[in-house]
Amino acid sequence: MKNALRILKDEHRSISAVLHGLKELARIAQDAKVKPDFRVFRAMLRYIDEYPERLHHPKEDRYLFAKLLERAPQCLPLVRRLVAEHEEGARKIRELERALLFLEESWPAGAAGFRDAVEDYARFHWDHMRAEENELLPLAERHLTAQDWKWVDDAFAGNFDPIADLRERDFERLFTRIVGLAPAPVGLGEPWEKSA
Ligand SMILES: [Fe+2]
Ligand SMILES: [Fe+2]
Repeated sequence: MKNALRILKDEHRSISAVLHGLKELARIAQDAKVKPDFRVFRAMLRYIDEYPERLHHPKEDRYLFAKLLERAPQCLPLVRRLVAEHEEGARKIRELERALLFLEESWPAGAAGFRDAVEDYARFHWDHMRAEENELLPLAERHLTAQDWKWVDDAFAGNFDPIADLRERDFERLFTRIVGLAPAPVGLGEPWEKSA
């Protein structure tokens, strides 16, 4: 498999893992007797906001999508849609943050609203990643030349970004923090305390 494709799919898997965990914890938080540890929600939201925004989407927009348009301008409607979804995703994260803030201030009120916002975002982002993998990648494989792939591979490996390694390590640390804070079955953290 081409390096860029492997990296892109790996990055999707990382985002998916956090989304799965977030959905599960939002579901557990429906029990009004169990006060959630809000730090884990904040860390998860930071991850699904910043990882795509700072690491993943720029590589798609600037390299993979741009090169595909150069080789196959007929793909413009699909590329436009996916780029618009990157912007829509950033807006949806703000809604999610508002829902979390409300939950933190009004707990146990706000738990259902937060869960709904999480499910809406997860659905939206999974549809987006699926469209990239099932619709865009086959077109890229068809239209990009070997030289194009070399350029896209370099970009995805972070070779054009002087602080890519640093950024990557930041996210690995954040991921480890999430796993450390999240209670089972999501992570290895302390269980949330049940009040009588
Ligand atoms: Fe994307
Ligand atoms: Fe993506």
